Amino acid sequence: MNLAVIGTGYVGLVSGVCFTLGGNHVICVDKDEEKIARLGQMKSPIYEPGIEALIEMNLKEGRLKFSSDLRESVRLSDIVILAVGTPSLPNGEADLQYIESAAADIGRAMEGYKIIMTKSTVPVGTNEKIRQIIAAHTGYPFDIVSAPEFLREGSAIQDTLHPDRVIIGLDNPALEPVMRELHQGFTENIVVTDIRSAEMIKYASNAFLATKISFINEIANICEKVGADVTEVAEGMGLDRRIGSSFLQAGIGYGGSCFPKDTKALIQIAGNVDYEFKLLKSVVEVNQGQRFMILAKLHESIGSLQGATIGIWGLAFKPNTDDVRESPAREIIEALVKEGAHVKVYDPIAADNFRKQYDHPLIHWCAVPEEAGTGSDAVCLLTDWAVFKDIDLHLLAAGMRKPILIDGRNVYSKEQIEGTGLEYYSVGRPRMGGLSGLSPSVAGAV
Ligand code: UDX
Repeated sequence: MNLAVIGTGYVGLVSGVCFTLGGNHVICVDKDEEKIARLGQMKSPIYEPGIEALIEMNLKEGRLKFSSDLRESVRLSDIVILAVGTPSLPNGEADLQYIESAAADIGRAMEGYKIIMTKSTVPVGTNEKIRQIIAAHTGYPFDIVSAPEFLREGSAIQDTLHPDRVIIGLDNPALEPVMRELHQGFTENIVVTDIRSAEMIKYASNAFLATKISFINEIANICEKVGADVTEVAEGMGLDRRIGSSFLQAGIGYGGSCFPKDTKALIQIAGNVDYEFKLLKSVVEVNQGQRFMILAKLHESIGSLQGATIGIWGLAFKPNTDDVRESPAREIIEALVKEGAHVKVYDPIAADNFRKQYDHPLIHWCAVPEEAGTGSDAVCLLTDWAVFKDIDLHLLAAGMRKPILIDGRNVYSKEQIEGTGLEYYSVGRPRMGGLSGLSPSVAGAV
């Protein structure tokens, strides 16, 4: 089949590249000519393991093209995939301006029947709107399919090629075989449903995963107070197959381009039909507060942060990506700077992206993780990059002014910390070092 993918962000680029592997011909389209030129030279605008090799292979084999000519790309395709961004408006609602203008452009470009497949995350009812906009700009027939994307950054290619399920929302049953053929080899689990349910499945899935994270984070906060260990609790819970072990890792909360945006959008979607989604509102609130746990632990261990030096490990919202969107690191560092701390920052990949958005004279950018620890009063681990797991913690402690490690992602085991001389705080686990290894509140009560 011939496909045009409109939008070369995460979803568009990864889907486009992956669909070539089924033998399809794909043109990835973007208005940004510079981005298209760079992609033509096999340079990916996103950091995603494996993507550049796939771009190179498919460009060379002639199955993949990049273009800023939407009209020509639509004309040459059987299926047009909408993968433009739907960022948050200030009130949390999804901003549909890019969807709407792309739909109008597609309508104007059509010179025959097309299948329009929406991969962007869009509020329930948006595909109907897309249909109306296209129809207002063309007399040619077309069908609409909602095919939400569930890829995770850092494992996007694997997630696209081998998803847990593919969701297809359609209202013309004749499209089902076409969609099954397009996704052949991806998974056996293809759920064909109506368009509105498909739109809802995406939001409900992301909201549920975010709920799991906020739930375990609150359990972690309680564990600290009662002297339990959240990693043990999560393991015990996760073995119940009805619960499952994934997304039960306590930490400083979720970030990224999806969970924060989609949870707020679903609250708005519900609000628009006079339904208050109380549970999800709490999930968002808990997540927002969880990052400040790092600051509370700094205050508890150091006291005033004025003039203190704090090392930061990790800026990306999660490992294996350079994405810093909605990363908890931003607010943590802003708060440190506001309190007058010197901040020594290290991230293996995301530092440049972060620095473009936020810099301050009190921030020192480090070339290696150890540098962030040297002479510092504390080091805070915010992203669980693999590189931090292998750091020599004895050397770290020896080089610090005060050997305090605050692990916001529960990366280190008890055995790794023991004997290092570090005072170690993590999330929902007993404190080590300092007051004889007791959790702060338990120690306070002794
Ligand atoms: C997510 C969804 O997983 C994906 O299906 C959807 O298409 C887009 O949003 P992504 O944002 O790439 O993907 O990252 P994910 O791996 O899901 O992690 C999201 C955030 O949750 C990260 O900040 C991560 O650190 C945090 N997280 C995840 C936890 O704090 N605990 C966990 O147990 C899991």
